Amino acid sequence: MKKIKFWLASFALIATVQAAAQAPYSLPKLNYDVKALEPYIDAQTMEIHHDKHHQAYINNLNKALAGTELEKLTIEQLMLNASRRTEVIRNNAGGHYNHTLFWDILAPAAESKPMEDLQKAIDLNFKSMDTLKKMLNQAAMTRFGSGWAWLIVTPEGKLMVTSTANQDNPIMDVSKDRGIPILGIDVWEHAYYLKYQNKRGDFLESIWKVVDWNNVSKRYIEALKDPLLKVIEKNAWKELNEFHMVMSQTFHPIEENNFTPIKERSGEMLAKAIALKNSKIPTSFNTTEIKKAIDELVTGATELHKINTKKVKDEVLKEKMEKLHDKFHEIQGLCSH
Ligand SMILES: [Fe+2]
Repeated sequence: MKKIKFWLASFALIATVQAAAQAPYSLPKLNYDVKALEPYIDAQTMEIHHDKHHQAYINNLNKALAGTELEKLTIEQLMLNASRRTEVIRNNAGGHYNHTLFWDILAPAAESKPMEDLQKAIDLNFKSMDTLKKMLNQAAMTRFGSGWAWLIVTPEGKLMVTSTANQDNPIMDVSKDRGIPILGIDVWEHAYYLKYQNKRGDFLESIWKVVDWNNVSKRYIEALKDPLLKVIEKNAWKELNEFHMVMSQTFHPIEENNFTPIKERSGEMLAKAIALKNSKIPTSFNTTEIKKAIDELVTGATELHKINTKKVKDEVLKEKMEKLHDKFHEIQGLCSH
């Protein structure tokens, strides 16, 4: 009996440990004490913000992902296609990512300065540090309701100031300006209300006393080398995504011998191919090779639409469609390397 109880207890323990290990996200520790950012950010705000708010984003995210295919994705992959995620995943994945960055770019009474590379980029993009601070504060002040102000590295490798609502961020496809954030200012009331009440402007003046420019500088260097930049650039190419959508919604049914979608949508696919050809090709994909492949895609889509209107046999349609599908993947591949 004792033995059985022991095994049952062991099994329960293993199951608990496994469940804990399976939760993909956990709360990162602060690199400083909650009191360390006083008097600019008070200890109670830090404690509630980190231990309660951030923890809640993590709990909700883990709960929403549990048992789904999305568990295998990285946080960046979850956010990139935020428009296709549920509200819960979008808000809580953003909440976790944004706050993890926020704790990292703060430091006790930071009197740090940007490292040389970042300083040069600030001077080049904004003329001076003062202008950059003004622009970030302006973005933070004018963000209606809750959200974030950001300094980001764009896919072109430039610095840019922008802002997003709620827990969105510029990695997400729902954002107007895209890139990798290297500095974020949380303007949710939970970030400042206990000390500053409704005076968001005072909080924004104070925050510069605790920004850790060493870590922002490191993030700048890392962002420039990060393959995610190219992924964002491709992800932001609207016309490529729109063509992809029609292609996948017509090609995959053919694999199951369903020709109805392509018979109904070959004209739409041609229109999307032409829109892709006429679109502004993102800088790093603007090569002769890719332009040639897009031209061939238009030619293929034109032929496909033409034979479809002549009501050819399904096998002929299938063969044409397979060629077009391969061509599209050639473009996708060229954009990934
Ligand atoms: Fe927050």
